[in-house]
Order: sequence, then C-alpha cells, then structure tokens
Amino acid sequence: MKGNEASKMPKRSKPSRRYFVFVRFFWLFLASATACFGAAPMGWNSWNSFANIVNSQIVQEQAEALASNGMKEAGYEYVVIDEGWWLGARDAAGNIVVNHKQWPAIQPGQKDGDMSNIAAYIHSLGLKAGIYTDAGRDGCSMYPDSGPKLPNTGSEGHYDQDFLQFSNWGFDYVKVDWCGGDKERRSGAVQYAQIARAIQKAKKITGRNLYFSICEWGSQNPWFWGPGVGGIESTIWRTGGDIIPPVVESLHDPEHDKRVITADNVLQSFDAGLHPEAQHTGYYNDLDMMVMGMRGMTNSLDRVHMGLWAISSAPLMVGSDLTRLSPATLSLLTNREALAIHNDPYGLQPIKVDEPSPGIQIWVKPMAIAGRRAIGILNRTDASTQVKINWEKLGLKGTPKSLRDVWNGANVKTANGTVSVPALDVVLLVVDGDDKSPEEYPANRDSITGMKATHGPTFAILHYANTSGHVVVLPVKSTSGLFTALALPPTVGSEAGAIGLILPHGTAELSFEPEQVEIRNLDLYAW
Ligand code: GLA
Repeated sequence: MKGNEASKMPKRSKPSRRYFVFVRFFWLFLASATACFGAAPMGWNSWNSFANIVNSQIVQEQAEALASNGMKEAGYEYVVIDEGWWLGARDAAGNIVVNHKQWPAIQPGQKDGDMSNIAAYIHSLGLKAGIYTDAGRDGCSMYPDSGPKLPNTGSEGHYDQDFLQFSNWGFDYVKVDWCGGDKERRSGAVQYAQIARAIQKAKKITGRNLYFSICEWGSQNPWFWGPGVGGIESTIWRTGGDIIPPVVESLHDPEHDKRVITADNVLQSFDAGLHPEAQHTGYYNDLDMMVMGMRGMTNSLDRVHMGLWAISSAPLMVGSDLTRLSPATLSLLTNREALAIHNDPYGLQPIKVDEPSPGIQIWVKPMAIAGRRAIGILNRTDASTQVKINWEKLGLKGTPKSLRDVWNGANVKTANGTVSVPALDVVLLVVDGDDKSPEEYPANRDSITGMKATHGPTFAILHYANTSGHVVVLPVKSTSGLFTALALPPTVGSEAGAIGLILPHGTAELSFEPEQVEIRNLDLYAW
C-alpha cells in the first residue's frame, strides 16, 4: 500500500488424461450455456512493479514476456494496465483524454494518444487487454505512489460513457478501484451494480465482454453482494488491502528501496481472502495480485504464494516484472498440476480440516471429480514438521486410491498418509478416493431448508436447471449470521446444472422463485 494508504484502506497418479478431457468438456458445456463463465482470470497487472510510471513501452515489454516465457501457454491471458495510465483529463464531451507521449502510436496509421493502440498490440500477441478506473469521481491518483496528486481519475458520472469507451478501445477486462467511492462514502453494492450494468450495456453495443474486477479491498463485505452483482455473469472482488506497496525497482528512491515482501504479507492476504461460502464457478474472492519472485520472496515463499492462490482458485494476476522472473519462479507459475487445481470447474476455496499444532494447517479443496480433493499442508512456522493426514476428515472412505505430490510431480504412498513439510512452506497434493455418501436435501416449492453444516464450512452440490437464458441469483442465509448469494448460470434444454458450493457453519436455507429457476436437490458432504 502507498504512503497514505491508511486513509484509503479500511485496510495421483499423474492427473489422468481423462481428467483434463473432463475439465475441457465441463468448460465447453459451461461456455455453451453461458457467455463467459470460467475459472478465475490469469494474467499480469502493472501495479506491483511499475505503479504509476506505467506506459506503452513497459506494457509492450511485459506482454511480449508473457507471450514468450511459457506463461501464455499455461493459460495466463490478460495484460492489465492499472493506475497511472490516465491523468484525469476529459474533452468537452466528457471523453477520457490520455497523454500522447505515454500512449503513442505503435503501428503506422495509428494516432498518438489513443488507447486502442496498446489494446491492439496486446491482441496481436494473442493476449487480452485490461484497463483500470475508479468507481468514484476521484481515483487513487489522489494518493499517488510517486509523482503528482491527480484529481478526477474516476468514472463516477461517466459510467456508461467510460465502459463503452474501454470496450470500443478493445479492452477485455476492467478493474474498478474504490478510492473515490470510499472518500465519498458511497455504497459499494450500489455503485458496483451500476457499473456492472454499464458493462453489460457496453457489451450489447460492441459485442465485446469486459471482465469485471471489483477492487474495494473488502471494505464493505463484497463477498455478501459480489456474486451476480448487477446481473453480471462473472466477477472477482478483492478481499483485502494490497499485499505490499509497489516495488518499482527503477525508481531507486529510499521509499521504494526499503520495501521488502515478507511471509506475513502473503499469509495475511490469504487469511483475509477466505470467504468460501461466497465463492463458486464464475465468482471469486480476489486475494490480490501476485508478488512471485519480487524483492523478499524466497523459493519457499513463492511456493506458499502459488500453492495458496491455486488451491483458493483465486485470480492469478501476476504483478511482478515478467522480464526478470527466475526459472524457478516461472516453473512454479506454470506448474500444470497446480494450475489444474486452480482451474477446477467448481472453483471453490479450501476448507481448513485440521491444525494438528499451531501454525500447521491442512487445507482441503473439494473438486469437481467425485472423491478428488486438493490438499495444501501449510507450515507457517520456522521449523520443519511431519504431518499425518486423517482421511476421515477429508470425507473419504478408507485409504485413498492415490496421492500426488504436485511440486515434485510424483506419486506418494498413501498407506500411512505422513508427509514432511519444510519450514514456512506448503506441500500441495491431489488425492483420489471414495466419497462418503452425501446427505440429500430435496427442494420444497420455493426453498431448501435445514441444511446442516454442523462442523464448520461444508461442501455441497446443488442440482438445478435454469432455462431463463440469464444468471439467476439466489440468496443463501445461515443461522451463523453469514449470508451470501449463489449465482446460477443458465443451462440448456433438459440439461441439469451442478454448482459446487460451501455452506457456512450453522443451518442454512436457500430460497428461490420457482417461475425463475428449477431447483432439484442439494447433496451435502458433511466431512
Ligand atoms: C489500490 C489497489 C491496488 C492498485 C492501487 C492503484 O491500492 O488496491 O491494487 O490498483 O490502488 O493505486
């Protein structure tokens, strides 16, 4: 976070071919049923390493690195330009005006000062382009990391105009910050719903989707209202402040020179990001841009970062300077087995099933293949340890069929389930076994009631059909006081849809309008 951030921030066998084919078909099914459902976005964001010195040259170099270093092949696709691209000027008609030198023509025939130049360049590399604004009148350039304070870098009063402009320029992704909204004491749920509608209007006109990234730092509990906000088909919401203030290596000023990432920075973002009841296919808690390989990050901390973000199905937006990544960092970022965990079609967060001693935590993510779980054994202490996994606690019957060590790409013997975890590290595993039978809750006329998550957050699968052609958002309430919304993508014809979800501790109830959506039943896996 920046100097005056306090005011800003309320601060197995090798996964089988069948599995990859299944994942592919699951997504093809969702893609045919909906416009843009998918795993959480993957890509690069300019903020962490370039802050507000971002310009066309930097973005081109980073996009080239992404396209050529193996990340693109691994699925990283967005190149997002964060704060600093726009200095707050508009023309008489209210259109955004940018600095000609910062965003010059790249190809013959282009005009200086036109953001379509950079969007087209990014597209020419087979990547997607992202841009940034603020939900308020002023943006975060009122609290710049370096350089002058700039007012009016927000979109309030211009939502329809700006989001149409972004789409016309060719952008595919927009991150919307909250500095102005926070300063004006706006309601995040209201502003972001208006923005979601402006994005959908723009799409009707241009035919281009803008992926919606909500960034209000968790200040107004976006996990309660984020899923389906304003009818949007897919979105992410930040759950906390910035992992770190940007580390701009080229600035060489005392402020930047003293910034070093610590294990606490990474672990705090993970802890703040856990809202498993709010997350499911298409709607994701955003733990913040990644700082892999940046100043202070060691190999083991890189593993902790990658492992926790992957098992959380969090957005993997890398904020590092991609031209300086070490082979070790790059190999973690492109580890196919970790990415398969990240891209699991249910897109759920993990549940902590055990903490055998303080700081030794077993996190388990339910996956879309029956009997499969990803396991993250996190050692937050500075001593190595041996951990015994109790399969019962993972909702599995008996000893599992197979266990895979993701980092080493090797099978592990499952017989005694004992794993060594080095100090401040994470071991990432995929286990295949047999699920214990679920408890079935049939739907009543307009609700499913009495769903008991007795031991804590509990995995469930909801079976439904939604032939309305649009997302239907259902409220879920729990006696724990937690409530959230479940967004159901459309299904086609008589096809049933299945959404994996995590119910909060307590007794939950889900209600719906039978005219809108057919809810069949819910299977609850009480681990
Ligand atoms: C906030 C956001 C960051 C980044 C900066 C830009 O701090 O949380 O991700 O966008 O603003 O100022």
